[in-house]
Amino acid sequence: MRAVAAIVLGLIACAAFAAAVVLRPHLPPAERGRRLAERTGCFGCHGPGGLRGAHNPGRTDKTVPGYEDDLMMYAKTPEEIREWIRDGVTAKKRASQTWREQRERGALRMPAFRGRLSEGDLDDLVAFVMASAGMPEPADSLAAAGLARAEALGCVGCHGPGGRLARANPGSLKGYLPSWDGADFPELVRDSTEFRQWVERGVSRRLEADRLARFFLGRAVLKMPAYGRRLDAPDVPALWAYVRWLRTPGPALGTQAEGLGDHP
Ligand code: HEC
Ligand code: HEC
Repeated sequence: MRAVAAIVLGLIACAAFAAAVVLRPHLPPAERGRRLAERTGCFGCHGPGGLRGAHNPGRTDKTVPGYEDDLMMYAKTPEEIREWIRDGVTAKKRASQTWREQRERGALRMPAFRGRLSEGDLDDLVAFVMASAGMPEPADSLAAAGLARAEALGCVGCHGPGGRLARANPGSLKGYLPSWDGADFPELVRDSTEFRQWVERGVSRRLEADRLARFFLGRAVLKMPAYGRRLDAPDVPALWAYVRWLRTPGPALGTQAEGLGDHP
């Protein structure tokens, strides 16, 4: 009897472990950064999502910069973004008399977060700011066309700028909407054929055939739309080229992704 109980307990432990591994959240760095920015007060000055800075009376630029449109005027590299967050300014700007006067005159001043945030936190915030600013841009023209289509088709509303966020999605299996550069992606999209199915039909045939997956897909608040009729012929290859570029491992993007092998 006792032996049977031990085996049963062992099996339950194994199942719980397997479930924990499968369900473990794999938030991409930009999403960790977005959630951290929310908790750290950044949006109080930089506006909702960091996209619409508050009025900043006294300064000639009139508002706190947003990450999307203004960033390039303040920071050209990931290291400069890091300096802004860590030190409240870049070394270059600090040397400028004009900047020092502007900072004095403004009601709102960028705080230095040194000491409040770990190096890993800074990495995540930099990844988030870069994703919001669309940095870096794909150099390959097909990938760039794919990004433009992702914006025009509204994909970035749910998947975040450049498909790099993982917003909350209540009722879904992991509780968030998978990003295109995240570690969950290869589980959901094995190749270009499955990618096409997701985009055209709103789900892959493989997941559709899986009872458990179907249950969670049906229950989630946000559902992947079926874009079938709305797509032009070159859209799927362009979107796929963009996703492949995004998943190419490299320090510039700060992704946790593994590359994808096949071609559309
Ligand atoms: C009290 C208001 C305030 C808060 C809070 C704040 N910032 Fe800023 N931030 C500013 C201002 C003002 C500037 C413009 C700096 C200047 O020119 O002096 C700025 C500039 C920046 C820049 C460079 C310009 C740009 O377009 O983004 C970055 C990056 C940045 N902040 C990130 C952050 C992050 C990340 C947080 C949270 C960890 C944060 N900020 C919190 C006010 C704030
Ligand atoms: C209304 C929100 C919404 C929009 C708009 C949207 N998606 Fe999705 N997408 C989802 C959800 C939700 C899932 C995840 C299904 C799940 O929970 O497994 C998903 C999954 C995916 C996946 C599967 C893998 C992964 O890791 O993301 C791909 C690929 C994808 N979407 C591409 C696109 C493309 C390309 C567009 C634009 C043509 C788009 N999506 C527009 C909500 C959306």
